[in-house]
Parts: sequence; structure tokens; C-alpha cells
Amino acid sequence: MKKLYGVIGDPIGHSMSPDMHNDAFQSLSMDAHYHAFQIEKKDLEAAVLGMKAIGISGFNVTVPHKTAIMPLLDEVDPLAQAIGAVNTVVLDNGRFIGYNTDGEGFLAGLEVEYDGNVLDKRILLLGAGGSARAIYYTLSQKGAMHIDIGNRTLEKAEELKKRCPYPVKTSLLTLDEAAEKLADYDIIIQTTSIGMSPNVEAMPISLDNLHPDAFVADIIYNPIETAFMKEAKARGAKSQNGAKMLSFQGALAFEKWTGILPEPSRMETIIYNKLGGIKC
Ligand code: ATR
Repeated sequence: MKKLYGVIGDPIGHSMSPDMHNDAFQSLSMDAHYHAFQIEKKDLEAAVLGMKAIGISGFNVTVPHKTAIMPLLDEVDPLAQAIGAVNTVVLDNGRFIGYNTDGEGFLAGLEVEYDGNVLDKRILLLGAGGSARAIYYTLSQKGAMHIDIGNRTLEKAEELKKRCPYPVKTSLLTLDEAAEKLADYDIIIQTTSIGMSPNVEAMPISLDNLHPDAFVADIIYNPIETAFMKEAKARGAKSQNGAKMLSFQGALAFEKWTGILPEPSRMETIIYNKLGGIKC
């Protein structure tokens, strides 16, 4: 019988996941379908029960349900528990188990393009929201040595550091301090919403002090190349956008459901096609 997978969120019409996963099922000749379900907050519990009743094999979870779904699952993996958000649910012997592949997807995507071991580098994380949390906790869990956090609101950065269950050396910086110390970092991870369409000219910090050997990873994928990435490139640094994180988080979710890691570059191509641009 055809297996069913899906994504729940609200809104959900913009999600690229159905195209990414259905293409993977097709390319691997698997008899399965992935569908987007728009679920309002008030219906979340009923939706989870309903998905179990119909025997869905696995699903993704997106805004606004990533945290609210946690108590409705049978088990939550420790990393997802630490992050405080689930983006992937697997049906395992009738039980729903929650995972978070956002941070692992980011790391895997960075490792494709970064020449060297990410974890022993000096890393600057810009932002302290939900995406920053997934990346900071995952990199720390994997053994990152040094991640400083720069954020507009220092209390949020403090909270992120305080609640991290994994050991990592971290200083907290204002955005101005981060800009001043920029030459100290090998990898800069941009997780704020600054530079996202339509405010495409905006940058979170000045790159005047960027080391030309540094690598800038922006998690924004719309626009395909942010002003921050362009400026980094103009200064001789390498950069990547958020399409890598998006494709790898999807590929890792697919692997958790099926045991097969699909080709992340196929998913990335679908993302670029949907965005109407070319890979950069
Ligand atoms: P996400 O879940 O995508 O990470 P989020 O949780 O809303 O989104 O986090 C947004 C991040 O962008 C935060 O770090 C936020 O800074 P604050 O913690 O100070 O709010 C940052 N951000 C958004 N707009 C900003 C702006 N205009 N200037 C500086 N930082 C901004």
C-alpha cells in the first residue's frame, strides 16, 4: 500500500517540502506520497491523533507547531528536547518520535562547502532566535569548541547560552562588538531575519573587519544571495545561502523515515527552481 508522509503548519501553502520529498520518492521508485496539511493551532492535538489513526508513516512540523507538538508525541529525542522544537516525526512501532534535523541539516550543508573541520574553528553566530538555537545546540552537541553569539538583544543570547546542555566556549556580544571583533572568526553564521526579502539591502553587521579567509553562511535563501553574502564575496571570503540547510534538513528527515538518504542536491535544485533562480 502507498505510504503517506506530510508536513503540518499554518500557513503551509508556501512549503517546498512536498516537491522536495515527492521528487525523492519518485527518483527512488518508492510507492509513497507527501502532502501538505494546513492545521490551525486549535486543531493540533486532533491532527496528531488523526495522523496516528490513519497510519501516516512520518511527517514534518513547521511554524507554528514546532514546540507545541512536543507534549503530544510519545517520545522526543534529547537534541530536539534541548532545542525545544521538533521538525520531524517518525512513526516507530505505533509510537510517534520527534526529532529536530534543522541544526544537523545546517552542519551537513556547511560541511559540503567548507574546506576543513567546522567544529574546531572559531565561529560567530549572529542571532539568538529559533534557528540560532537549533544550530548552536547541534554544533555544541557535535563537539564545536568555540561559538560566540552576537545578537541585538543580549538577554536572548544569554538565555541561549544558559540553557545549552552541551559544553562549548561562548562569549556574548552586541552586534557592534561582533562587527569589531570580526577578524577573529573563521566561520560566521547569519541567522537573523535581516536581509530577507523584501529588505534585501539590509545587513546585520558591517563586514569591514571580515578576514578574507573566513566563510560566511547565511541561512536566508530568499533572496538567493543576500547583501551580506555579496559583501563577504567582495571581500574575498566564501559564502553560502540557506538552501543548503533547507535541503539537508529535508534529506535527513527523509532518511529518518525510510533509512535512505536521498540526494540533497536534487532537493536543492527544486528549491532553486521554486525560487526562480540559479545556484550560487
Ligand atoms: P527564527 O525562528 O527564524 O530564528 P526568530 O526566532 O524570530 O526567527 O529570531 C529572529 C532573530 O533575528 C533574532 O536574533 C532577532 O534579534 P532579537 O533577539 O534582538 O529580536 C534578529 N532580528 C530580527 N530583526 C532584527 C533587526 N531589525 N535588528 C537586529 N536583529 C534582528
